[in-house]
Amino acid sequence: MEQKLKGQTAIVTGASSGIGAGVAKSLASAGATVIVNHPVPATKSAADAVVDEIVCEGGTAISCQCDVSKEDEVKKMFADVVAAHGTVDILVNNAGLQRDAPFTEMTLEQWNYVLSVNLTGQFLCAREAIREFIRRGIVPERSVAAGKIICMSSVHEVIPWGGHANYAASKGGIMLMMKSIAQEFAPKKIRINSICPGAIQTPINRGAWGTPEELKSLLTLIPYDRIGQPEDIGKAAVWLASDESDYITGASIFIDGGMTLYPGFSTNG
Ligand code: BGC
Repeated sequence: MEQKLKGQTAIVTGASSGIGAGVAKSLASAGATVIVNHPVPATKSAADAVVDEIVCEGGTAISCQCDVSKEDEVKKMFADVVAAHGTVDILVNNAGLQRDAPFTEMTLEQWNYVLSVNLTGQFLCAREAIREFIRRGIVPERSVAAGKIICMSSVHEVIPWGGHANYAASKGGIMLMMKSIAQEFAPKKIRINSICPGAIQTPINRGAWGTPEELKSLLTLIPYDRIGQPEDIGKAAVWLASDESDYITGASIFIDGGMTLYPGFSTNG
């Protein structure tokens, strides 16, 4: 791959598995030094495996433990990365999880847990990244922008999702947080966008593709008739982090094989 991100440092949160791992590999193959973030000691070996894969392919990466919902840990992660690498050029705000329940049975703990990681975590990381982008300013040899943030949202920032109200609320929140800060910091040449994945084949949604019957049922929601792969998201993340997308900020980019095209209406309505 062309080294579009050469010389830039990227933090990818929640990069020990799933979409985050895919994005970390894509950014590394585009030349970025990638910080593979993971949340707790138990996820270190998975993060290190992603680092090993990147290094075997000739890339540069390092793992870093930090629970993105904890302010002190997020501040420390950014301070450590700046101390070791000089700055941060790209943040991929990816860490996210589901704790699904019918609404009347959803506990406050399930609600708070999902909101604290998916939404508050993105707030804390974006705030530290923007502080660093402003401190450093533009370095023309690396990028015409002072910094780039990619928020991992979901088709569920617009598609309501019964049984997942906490998750859908977190993604709807990401949409307007992203657009509000994109508006606020565009004059500082900081670009902030979201990627909204549909069904990507990762552990978070194994229940939707684990058996042939489940996959068949899932595909009725995807006009393009295939499940997505982490590389589908990784390629878009490289482009959004590069100067090729320099005039794009505040956009929600849906990468979903047409899931948001209301496929049920193709033969009805
Ligand atoms: C969710 C997946 C789901 C997909 C499409 C994603 O945001 O994390 O579990 O399969 O949306 O519904």
